[in-house]
Amino acid sequence: MSENGKRTSKNGKQPVVEIRAMEIGDLPEVFDLGEELFTAERWRALYRTWDEYELATLFASEGDLCIVAELDDDIVGFALGTILDKRGSAWSYGHLLWLGVDPKVGRRGVAAKLMERMTETFIEEGARILLVDTAADNDAALAFFRKNGFGDEEPHVYLSKNLTDDPEYKAHRKREKLRDAAARRRARKRRQEAKQAAGPGPG
Ligand SMILES: CC(C)(COP(=O)(O)OP(=O)(O)OC[C@H]1O[C@@H](n2cnc3c(N)ncnc32)[C@H](O)[C@@H]1OP(=O)(O)O)[C@@H](O)C(=O)NCCC(=O)NCCS
Repeated sequence: MSENGKRTSKNGKQPVVEIRAMEIGDLPEVFDLGEELFTAERWRALYRTWDEYELATLFASEGDLCIVAELDDDIVGFALGTILDKRGSAWSYGHLLWLGVDPKVGRRGVAAKLMERMTETFIEEGARILLVDTAADNDAALAFFRKNGFGDEEPHVYLSKNLTDDPEYKAHRKREKLRDAAARRRARKRRQEAKQAAGPGPG
């Protein structure tokens, strides 16, 4: 750290954020940063889908649409996207699914750099429109997207229903419990049979 609290590189020069393709070894760090950013308290709808499976699947299927921002050997941001081909339309859409920047380096243009690289890649992949979405009260992201040229906003509402109150949910849980109990009984019986087959122990 320099005297003004900003990070400087070992040779004293201003550190440069490098935007590069995500590598397999980055997955844990990217996942942890996402866990910090996409929390349940902040965005319930997003939280539900940020998990290791989502990240690993996108990494495996979308390769060049998964990028990271690196600063002094630390991952400080990431962007993950996909291409959508809409049925009945000749147009391809680029969908920026996840964009995250470590708040420690917030408002220093890291997301803008990630967005710039993603835009180039989406264009190379044939996209004509870029889609992003976020919670309506995510002021920082909305300000960021608007600043970076996004418009045509279309509100979308998430609704949820607690399925644990549904009679089918209760019946399903009951069936599961009965199945588990039957499996435990069978396992106990197998252990007893094995014991009997082995005969009396020494002494
Ligand atoms: C939104 C986010 C990606 C912005 O990253 P960033 O690196 O700080 O953004 P940049 O430095 O490139 O751009 C800065 C601009 O973004 C907006 N912005 C960023 N943080 C902001 C904040 N806390 N409050 C208001 N606007 C903010 C502003 O327009 C800002 O421009 P300004 O500083 O001139 O006002 C980052 O805050 C983040 O990761 N948020 C949590 C995850 C998220 O919401 N992702 C988007 C939906 S998937």
